[in-house]
Amino acid sequence: MSEHFRVRGGARLRGAVDVVGAKNSVLKLMAAALLAEGTTTLTNCPEILDVPYMAEVLCSLGCTVDIDGDTIAITTPTELSHRPDGESMRKLRASVCVLGPLVGRCKRAVVALPGGDAIGSRPLDMHQSGLRQLGAHSDIEHGCVVAEAENLHGAQIWLDFPSMGATENILMAAVLAEGTTVIDNAAREPEISDLCTLLTQMGAKIEGAGTSTLTVHGVEALVPAEHEVIGDRIVGATWAFAAATTRGDITVRGVDPHHLDLVLEKLRIAGAEVTFGEREFRVVQPERPKAVDFVTLPYPGFATDLQPFAITLASVAEGTSMITENLFESRFRFIEEMMRLGADARTDGHHAVIRGIEQLSSAPVWASDIRAGVGLVLAGLCADGDTEVWDVFHIDRGYPKFVENMTALGADVARVNA
Ligand code: EPU
Repeated sequence: MSEHFRVRGGARLRGAVDVVGAKNSVLKLMAAALLAEGTTTLTNCPEILDVPYMAEVLCSLGCTVDIDGDTIAITTPTELSHRPDGESMRKLRASVCVLGPLVGRCKRAVVALPGGDAIGSRPLDMHQSGLRQLGAHSDIEHGCVVAEAENLHGAQIWLDFPSMGATENILMAAVLAEGTTVIDNAAREPEISDLCTLLTQMGAKIEGAGTSTLTVHGVEALVPAEHEVIGDRIVGATWAFAAATTRGDITVRGVDPHHLDLVLEKLRIAGAEVTFGEREFRVVQPERPKAVDFVTLPYPGFATDLQPFAITLASVAEGTSMITENLFESRFRFIEEMMRLGADARTDGHHAVIRGIEQLSSAPVWASDIRAGVGLVLAGLCADGDTEVWDVFHIDRGYPKFVENMTALGADVARVNA
C-alpha cells in the first residue's frame, strides 16, 4: 500500500527521546553470528525494517532467527549454506556483510550484489581486494560476488579509503584466518568498535579497536556470545538537528555524546546550547539558527548520513552555508526535493551553497533514502501548511517508532495510507 507522512509546519520540538541500538551496528553484528555455531543473542536492537530483512538473509543460509522486541537470537548451524537468497540480499546494503563471515567459515561465498540506499555507485573493490590478500579468489559473476579460498592466511592490508563495509568484511574473514592480519587505514566508526567488542567476546583476538590499525590474530573457531548493541549516534544526531532546526529543546537519551562531538560543536556554532549527561545530551535552540559550513568525512569527521539534516538546517538559517559531500555522489539529490519546498540552494560538484530563508513552503516531496526522508520531514516542520513526504518506507528501514517519537516531541506528523 502506498503511504506518505503528512507533516504540519510550525511546531518547535520539545521533550525527551530514547534512542536504541544502531542500525549500522546491529545488522553487522547479526552477520557476525554466522562465525560461531550456536546461539548469539543481541539486546537493545532497534525495531526497524532492515532487521527482519537481514534475518531473511541469515535464514536463507540455514540460521534460525528469533526476534522478540529488542532482543534477537540467531542460531547458526554446523553446516551453513554459502549462497544467501538473492532477493533478500537486494533489500538492504548491510547484507553484503555476510561475505566476510561466509568466506571465514565456509571458505566459499556466492553473494548477490546488495541493494540499499541509492546514494551513489557503492563499489565493492576494497572488499574483494582484502579477501584476495587473505588468500581467496574473488570475482563478480552473474550479479554475484563469488569468493573462494583453500585456506585463509594473515596479511598486511592497506585500505585506499577507510570504508566501513570493507573493514567489516575483511575483519570478519580475518578472525578465522591462519596467522596475523593487519588492516591499515581501517574505518574508526563506533559501530566498528562495537563489532570488535562482539567478536572479542566470541573469542577473536583483535587489537586496536577504534583506531585506524586493526591487528587480528586468527583463531581456529569462535563461540556464540551475548551483546548489547551501542546506541544509534545517527538517530541521536537526527534529534539534535531536529531541535536546532525547529528552534526547540530536545534531550536525547541512550547515545554516547562523545560519538557526536563534532556534530554538537557545529550546532553550538549555529547558536544551540548543548549540555551533557552520561549517555545523554540536551540541545536547546533559543533563536533562529546561524549559517554553518559542513564537510562530510569518515569518523570522527562529520557523517555523510547527517548531510541532509545539515542542508535542512542551512535552508532556514540566517546567512549562507556551504556543504561539501565527500563520500556519496548522489546524496545531493536531496537538494532537488528541498527546492520544491522553496530552499535557495545551488550545487557545484561536491559542494552545495545554501542561502537560508525564514520559512520554507509546503509541497509534496519524495524520499530517496532513509536520511533524505527524515530530512524532508524536518524541512516540512519549517514550512507553512502541510507537506506530504512520499516513499516513507525508507524511513521505516532505519528509524524505530518515528511518528510516535515525533508526536511525543510535539510535532504534527501523521502516517496516511493512500
Ligand atoms: N568504497 C569504494 N570501494 C569499496 C567500498 C567503499 O570505493 O569497496 C567507497 C564508497 O563508494 C564511498 C566510501 O568508500 O565513497 C565509503 O563507503 P563505506 O564502505 O564506508 O560505506 P558502506 O559501508 O557501504 C556504511 C553505512 C552508510 C554510511 C557509510 C559511510 C551501513 C549499512 N551503511 O555504508 O549508511 O553512509 O557507511 O559512513 O553501515 C545509512 O545508514 O543511511 C547509510 C547509508
